[in-house]
Amino acid sequence: MTASEPITYDTSRVTLVDHPLVQHKLTLMRDKATGTKQFRELVRELAIFEGYEATRDLPLEDAPVETPICATVGKRLAGRRLAVLPILRAGLGMVEGLLELVPDARVGHIGMYRDEVTHKPHEYYCKVPRDISERICLVVDPMLATGGSATAAIEYLREQGVRDLRLLVLVAAPQGIACVLDADPDVHIYTCAIDERLNDAAYIVPGLGDAGDRIFGTL
Ligand code: URA
Repeated sequence: MTASEPITYDTSRVTLVDHPLVQHKLTLMRDKATGTKQFRELVRELAIFEGYEATRDLPLEDAPVETPICATVGKRLAGRRLAVLPILRAGLGMVEGLLELVPDARVGHIGMYRDEVTHKPHEYYCKVPRDISERICLVVDPMLATGGSATAAIEYLREQGVRDLRLLVLVAAPQGIACVLDADPDVHIYTCAIDERLNDAAYIVPGLGDAGDRIFGTL
């Protein structure tokens, strides 16, 4: 692909979570003056907004219940359970918010990188629930830049038998979205923003800098 070629992807596989509160909070995150404590809180809050959208289609079943007034039939979650899978290290910042939404979800950890020369994914730490193939998997990472580590993580999870896979990021570059969907057209991506491009150092522009450093205060 040349620099001038437009980046295309299947837009039906991408959900832009652009609620006004999300856009407001994202601007605070982009601000270089925002400190670690507030940045961490904002990542947690945006993960909740994204989790809300990414779990919109969870199946329900009838649930009889006695209110103080009478008996009725409500709804409860049915069937397949969730797993939250942070891509190390920045993805860890999104876990707490998602567990507030779905306290019963299991958490797996994915430490992967793609070799710059061979482009082969290397796992340096992966630990996922034993029944991962039966779960709806929410892979989380605040930044989708080149798409290299997300693609490697998704490949790894497919090898474990995962069928329902959703990638939740806070800021995406068009290149990253195209990379993930080229490799696996069945993934659904949720993002709060689709930024312009990557710079020469593979940072998202305008982006928010290094999300891991800003979450953990390692700047
Ligand atoms: N990872 C980050 O944390 N920020 C970017 O802009 C790109 C990748």
